[in-house]
Amino acid sequence: MNPSKKHVKVSDTAFVTCSFRSKNDNLSQDRYAKLWTNERAETILEDYLENVSTEEVSTHCIRNRYFLETLAKLVEQEKIDLLINFGAGFSMYPFLLPDTIEHIEIDKPEVVDYKSEQVKQWMENGTLPKRHITSIPVDFSTDYQAELISTIESLKQNRRCFILIEGVLFFLNREQTDGLFHLFSEVQAHGDYVGSVSYKEDVKATDAYKRLIAYANKGVDDASDDGFQTIPNSYYLNLKDYDLLEQEDYYSCSKLYHHNTQSKPTDILNEQFYVLKRKP
Ligand SMILES: C[S@@+](CC[C@H](N)C(=O)[O-])C[C@H]1O[C@@H](n2cnc3c(N)ncnc32)[C@H](O)[C@@H]1O
Repeated sequence: MNPSKKHVKVSDTAFVTCSFRSKNDNLSQDRYAKLWTNERAETILEDYLENVSTEEVSTHCIRNRYFLETLAKLVEQEKIDLLINFGAGFSMYPFLLPDTIEHIEIDKPEVVDYKSEQVKQWMENGTLPKRHITSIPVDFSTDYQAELISTIESLKQNRRCFILIEGVLFFLNREQTDGLFHLFSEVQAHGDYVGSVSYKEDVKATDAYKRLIAYANKGVDDASDDGFQTIPNSYYLNLKDYDLLEQEDYYSCSKLYHHNTQSKPTDILNEQFYVLKRKP
């Protein structure tokens, strides 16, 4: 498919991300990702692999695996009661983690509406185990903050939470990102966690990133005007309300999970994975 003709919407990227995970569920450990695959997502995925980077199945599987294992460890250690997933897409963490924690999932209305209806049916017919999930439709490019803060505060109360934002910041600009991190610090208490994913500036030197930008400029219809952002490590280190606990990336996690990378470094989109802890 010609990228200029396909008119990928940001919400399509949620299906495609899920399809990546389903291609190697041994690596991603997401055994439910295949539930969301459909013809349109498969066509976009094949086109994207060919035009941007063939390594993208593995990079997405590794990312999911890293956060799944991080979350599973915190649940086992009884350090979190609630996962709040910003731009959750078709993430399946609620069903891959024990039922001892609850979930809030936030995304654009079209994604949230479709997902919550589908998941409800699958929980009723036994395709998925039953989990407690509250879905909130929000577009981060709008003036959403005050209402979302009060909704989250009333749901969270004094429970310990992990906020996850993965595969989303690339589509937002810096002002929207600052707004989100401000909201995180408003709703979180000392000891709560944030998991965040972004590209560092050095990715810009890779051939894969140049192809990604060409692809995104031609193909993605509704990302923020000045989106496609990279974020330096210093952004996370300078967040006044958070300590940086852990930073991994595709290469370090590949070693951890005994995965052999396939492409040359210049053909790999190396995402950074950060875990932050709310200061007192
Ligand atoms: C690449 S997908 C990643 C989904 C999921 N986090 C994952 O890793 O599987 C990006 C998600 O961010 C959401 N998103 C992008 N821009 C958004 C915005 N302005 N407001 C709300 N959600 C947004 C999309 O709808 C989509 O579900």
